[in-house]
Amino acid sequence: MTKKFDIKSTALAGSGKKRIEWAGRTMPVLRDIAKRFNKTKPFKGIRMGACLHVTTETANLMLALKAGGADVRLSASNPLSTQDDVAASLVKDYNIPIFAIKGESNKLYYEHLNSVLDFKPQIVMDDGADLASALHSSHKKLSGDILGGTEETTTGVIRLKSLEKNNLLLFPVIAVNDALTKHLFDNRYGTGQSTIDGIIRATNHLFAGSTVVVAGYGWCGRGVAMRARGMGARVIITEIDETKALEAVMDGFNVMPMNKCAREGDVFVTLTGNINVIRPEHFLLMKDGAIVSNSGHFNVEIDLIGLRKISISTREIRPFVEEYTLKKENKKILILGEGRLVNLAAAEGHPAMVMDMSFANQALSAEYLIKDAKKLENKVYPVPREIDSSIAKLKLESMKIKIDTLTPEQKKYLSSWEIGT
Ligand code: NAD
Ligand code: ADE
Repeated sequence: MTKKFDIKSTALAGSGKKRIEWAGRTMPVLRDIAKRFNKTKPFKGIRMGACLHVTTETANLMLALKAGGADVRLSASNPLSTQDDVAASLVKDYNIPIFAIKGESNKLYYEHLNSVLDFKPQIVMDDGADLASALHSSHKKLSGDILGGTEETTTGVIRLKSLEKNNLLLFPVIAVNDALTKHLFDNRYGTGQSTIDGIIRATNHLFAGSTVVVAGYGWCGRGVAMRARGMGARVIITEIDETKALEAVMDGFNVMPMNKCAREGDVFVTLTGNINVIRPEHFLLMKDGAIVSNSGHFNVEIDLIGLRKISISTREIRPFVEEYTLKKENKKILILGEGRLVNLAAAEGHPAMVMDMSFANQALSAEYLIKDAKKLENKVYPVPREIDSSIAKLKLESMKIKIDTLTPEQKKYLSSWEIGT
């Protein structure tokens, strides 16, 4: 029998509801959008399937979509990122079917994702492109119903662009990640703060005086590097891109290859979106007790299979901390959150204040898809510039920050060539 929802326990709903409301307080842009949706009902009669981290902030997005008339179903976009009390409240208090349990196996993760697809969604909302990937493989038949999709994160956009490049993409997708009001804030300040929050909640490690190795100096990496330095850590960056490496150098960080800094780091964080960035050859060089974590989308950045092969034993020493004892010198390596996104596994993910903009982009991109789906081809599109800047404007207004406007003379000057030296 197909289940109506699958969560840990509806008994957790009380705390979930309070936490959803708490997050909602610092999501003013999404709140305004939800109010408008409630009147205009842009999603009336539309089935929406979402695969997102089931957090208090995502709950507020689901409520905004529902206010707009959508029939929504949600599964988790990572086996360790679900907040079970939030899932409970969405089911019990808001009647939204959720399929997600923190700590679910990979098998259950995909069963839950399939439960969202069984609902035959017309709009899909992804964080990492697992729904879209299923719609291009195991569930290809359902892709005919899809009007379009939205994608939240860098890794998902890369996967979807690969489908587009190979002429395989079956519906239009809006790359929410690429909006300025998304990655400049969510990836940088959100990941910067919440990744360190996750490492600290898991370990209670002191950053002051520690050497922190950050792999990848993209939007997420620079956020983590900036915040770790602010807490008194000595930060080393590893990169494979010359320009990003140069930027890190000029931002005042040490830059070197992983096989050099492996000996020096007390804490390691990968944020590359790439595979096997930390490998057995690096673990063998690390200090006894090195803390190794990942905040990139998938749990492929740390080679855990390789680590297991060079280890004699493992044990959970604290929640979200797995201690590996190496065959060589009985050295200990501490892996956080099974190598999954440490900010969502061991902490609560990005603060609501920043998810406000990411999810405003999601909500408005979904509305845009509904309005313009027929005009769009099977391509990956950016969030329309007007939507992106309207979100920045609303966020500034909510913070009561005013800015200057161009005078007519300045407007003319900026579009002319005549005035020079
Ligand atoms: P980005 O493209 O801006 O940065 C990735 C950087 O990693 C690039 O500079 C690239 O050159 C570098 N890199 C690639 N391979 C490398 C390697 N082998 N060694 C060192 N550096 C390498 O991407 P981003 O927006 O910073 O996202 C990074 C990852 O984090 C993605 O998987 C993204 O989906 C994920 N993400 C996670 C969260 C979260 O909540 N934890 C939030 C947003 C994005
Ligand atoms: N990704 C990172 N932080 C998040 C959050 N708080 N909610 C949903 N997705 C996220």
